[in-house]
Amino acid sequence: MGFIELKHIGKKYANSDKNAVTDFNLEIEEKEFIAFVGPSGCGKSTTLRMIAGFEEITEGELYIDGVKMNEVAPRDRGISMVFQNYALYPHMTVEKNISYGLKNMKVPKDIIKKKVDWVIDILGLEEYRYRKPKNLSGGQRQRVALGRAIVKDQKVFLMDEPLSNLDAKLRVSMRNEISKLHRSLGSTTIYVTHDQVEAMTMADRIVIMKDGVVQQIGKPMDLYEHPQNKFVAGFIGSPQMNFYDVTVNGEEMTFADGSKMTLPKATAEKLASHKGELILGIRGEDIKFDSQNIDVYKQNSQQAVIENTEIMGNENNLYFQFGGAQTVARVSKYEVCQMGDRVEFVFMPHKMHFFDRETEMSI
Ligand SMILES: Nc1ncnc2c1ncn2[C@@H]1O[C@H](COP(=O)(O)OP(=O)(O)OP(=O)(O)O)[C@@H](O)[C@H]1O
Ligand SMILES: [Mg+2]
Repeated sequence: MGFIELKHIGKKYANSDKNAVTDFNLEIEEKEFIAFVGPSGCGKSTTLRMIAGFEEITEGELYIDGVKMNEVAPRDRGISMVFQNYALYPHMTVEKNISYGLKNMKVPKDIIKKKVDWVIDILGLEEYRYRKPKNLSGGQRQRVALGRAIVKDQKVFLMDEPLSNLDAKLRVSMRNEISKLHRSLGSTTIYVTHDQVEAMTMADRIVIMKDGVVQQIGKPMDLYEHPQNKFVAGFIGSPQMNFYDVTVNGEEMTFADGSKMTLPKATAEKLASHKGELILGIRGEDIKFDSQNIDVYKQNSQQAVIENTEIMGNENNLYFQFGGAQTVARVSKYEVCQMGDRVEFVFMPHKMHFFDRETEMSI
């Protein structure tokens, strides 16, 4: 139970002349964990709210388990939702806030007690059980909101940025808890976030949106390795993929600053049918500074002067100018480098991404 189909779903708010969501198509398998990601205002919450029934679907059809839902009231859709702007009942304790929905559903008292105890335990709220929302921190309130939804144990679980108010450490542990919870509850889950790390680490599949339009749907590593356009390539991955305007002529690639590299034959052949003005993309970890890689790709090695470093502990980011653009490379903590150092490096040739400069679509 919990098979969701979105068919050509669109949304135009009455007070707006432009679509908030356009032609959204997706089939979500039972028990699947889907993440919607994209920049602020791209239509994530709107789509989620249409699935939940809190926002009218102005175009297309929504099915859950084969039943058309467009006209079905939210409470009859078998859904529980954590809202982005969740509002707790201010006069109720944490415990009452969590149990309220079950009471409304006329669940027997002893079962309510069991479920509420379980939710309070997994969310680490025992200490706050009898407090009212005004006496909780933002993160604690958010956990109560999460608890209210979990406790209902529905076939579809919708979450709109449920961890946005938590500190970094709690986010990571809650990320884990939600993944575990999902495995044990088995509810089909849609999780909205603008944090691509959350999407990458939690989801079976990710839907990336921009301006109300789905850009790509796929497994996390598919999106990472095979982005369909420059937007997806830039959105997934941190630090962001490096982009360069390049001119490709046969096997020769020239950067805006005149630097040149020779492309592998297969790459040159793939690019041959496109006009020579392209965008090259390469991820920071695919720029190599070690002698082994430099030896292998010697004829293409480049030089630059490090302008800035970000020391992360486990790894470091090195910033420098190359190819007419700011470049960031990601190196291990053992490859120590300092500002002002002149370095030699190579781009891993089979890790290069190419995009059409006009359409920005992947080649
Ligand atoms: N009630 C509304 N009336 C008119 N326009 C709206 C309404 N709610 C949202 N919008 C517009 O619809 C678009 C999508 O909004 P939505 O809230 O779905 O974005 P989002 O992806 O959830 O963003 P965020 O990450 O900031 O939460 C935005 O341009 C927004 O301004
Ligand atoms: Mg939103």
